[in-house]
Amino acid sequence: MTTRKIIMDCDPGHDDAIAIILAAARPELEILAITTVSGNAEIEKTTMNALKVCDLVSRPDVVVSKGASEPLIRIRETAPGIHGDSGLDGPELPEPSRSWSGEHGADTIIRLVKESKEPVTILPTGPLTNIALALTKAPEIKDNIEEIVLMGGGTFGNWTPTAEFNIWADPEAAKKVFDSGLPIVVMGLDITHQALATKEVIDQVNQIDNNVAKIVGELLVFFASTYKEMFDFDGAPVHDVLTVAYCVAPELFKTKDVNVTVETKGEFTAGTTLVDLHGVTGREVNAKFGLELDVEGFWKLMIEALKKY
Ligand code: BDR
Ligand code: CA
Repeated sequence: MTTRKIIMDCDPGHDDAIAIILAAARPELEILAITTVSGNAEIEKTTMNALKVCDLVSRPDVVVSKGASEPLIRIRETAPGIHGDSGLDGPELPEPSRSWSGEHGADTIIRLVKESKEPVTILPTGPLTNIALALTKAPEIKDNIEEIVLMGGGTFGNWTPTAEFNIWADPEAAKKVFDSGLPIVVMGLDITHQALATKEVIDQVNQIDNNVAKIVGELLVFFASTYKEMFDFDGAPVHDVLTVAYCVAPELFKTKDVNVTVETKGEFTAGTTLVDLHGVTGREVNAKFGLELDVEGFWKLMIEALKKY
């Protein structure tokens, strides 16, 4: 089987953690590294969480590199109201068995993309700071990046009325990525809100008799409680998991080729993605934008992956 080489750039984060769990269960994906970024929580915490999740899925071999602790130019803001103070509140996970690599996340991205014999797919599921840093420092890596499949943005917001958290947290970095000319797939709120871990989904997860599924159940219960409190949702959208699902089962996704531009200057709208669904701007297509998810197929994929542990 030919494997698709991926780098997961993330800020775990409940849904980031579940994305790693799905990726680690899929034989057609080879995780070259996990690079962390400040987002849902401060960088020390997101890095610690990534290491813990690697242990959970028995993958202490996966390189974990700590990346940017701050957005490119803005003040850092985290999301404890959604993910708790640790960034991964809910389950009790043991202290990690090892430390991070010692190489900056952006440098790990540059090195691994350069070293890889086959093109690498990057899955950013936090603010895009590390990706922007890597593209700025070594623009030549673009030649060996197959695709960027990211979670961020949408035609509406969840952090401001118009901006989604990952893009809002570092709009300048996001702009750099969207303007890079690389093929980009966007899992924005329009599609990620369709992947709602409802009570029925959590019940299904809890019926699986292994430790990874037990932890995922606990993650989802915590995540659903904050989504109820903050947004009055009946369940938590597992946003970031869609990036991995897209890589292994693109047939579950309906996308549209569009232009996406990031607002960096607006007094009230910084971090908004302008998704030109109807081609009114005349700007060139630069992204595949997720519109519709085969919800049943998606959860089937997730449940099957959990059963493998
Ligand atoms: C995004 O922000 C974080 O809370 C999640 O991990 C996801 O990446 C959703 O807006
Ligand atoms: Ca995330």
